[in-house]
Amino acid sequence: MLVMTSIKAPSIVILTGAGISAESGIQTFRASDGLWHNHRIEEVATPEGFAQNPSLVHEFYNARRKQLHDPAIQPNAAHLALARLERNYPGKVLLVTQNVDNLHERAGSKQLIHMHGELNKIHCQQTGQVYNWDRDLSTTSTCQCCHQAGNLRPHIVWFGEMPLQMEEIYRALMACGLFISIGTSGQVYPAAGFVQIAQQAGARTVELNLDPTSNSAMFDESLNGTASQLVPSYVDQLLS
Ligand code: OAD
Repeated sequence: MLVMTSIKAPSIVILTGAGISAESGIQTFRASDGLWHNHRIEEVATPEGFAQNPSLVHEFYNARRKQLHDPAIQPNAAHLALARLERNYPGKVLLVTQNVDNLHERAGSKQLIHMHGELNKIHCQQTGQVYNWDRDLSTTSTCQCCHQAGNLRPHIVWFGEMPLQMEEIYRALMACGLFISIGTSGQVYPAAGFVQIAQQAGARTVELNLDPTSNSAMFDESLNGTASQLVPSYVDQLLS
């Protein structure tokens, strides 16, 4: 009896960071003009900062949420290429983003995890209930679940908090055949450690970034250039 064997396409896990959205007009964090040069992390991106000055934290995220609604902010060629990869690749593709913008979903990506939360969502600190939110949030905004003001906060994972859907991410990393890291400086864990987990699982690892990063030596291949140039041509190669 003849048995047909098919070679399964290796599953792919992609990690993206602020660099993929830079050419869409969204600031990165650690560049000389980046967000962390004009704002103190402890003040705007920690639970302690929020407890101390919630208005300042709301102001910071309100400005960033508002920017997402600017018609000039659109997905770029790199976001679109990753959505095309998911649509046309014969195996599994999971996109894990550290970004809190919505450019991947607007480009058409569906298998997407926002491990650091989303600007267009908020949650109640008392019940954990998550709400879609596209306007300004303030200390007087009232919660639909507990009907109190002051309990709502941006649905953003702050320093010292656990990123979202980690079990699902680790499961995918341990089963992947290819791991691609795009536009991230590799300074923030646990995301910065994904390359090692994928490597231990036997995956090929590739970094696509504007500059070399402190993690570059860990990757099997590291290419430097803009995301809008590197990502579409890398996706073409994967699909050919
Ligand atoms: P960073 O600002 O640390 O790094 C952005 C990376 O993108 C840098 O390595 C740049 O060289 C690269 N880059 C810039 N422009 C690019 C382009 N056009 N094409 C390709 N690469 C480009 O941002 P992240 O690594 O995403 O977390 O930061 C990780 C986390 O730190 C963020 O999710 C955020 C931050 O604190 C929270 O706020 C919880």
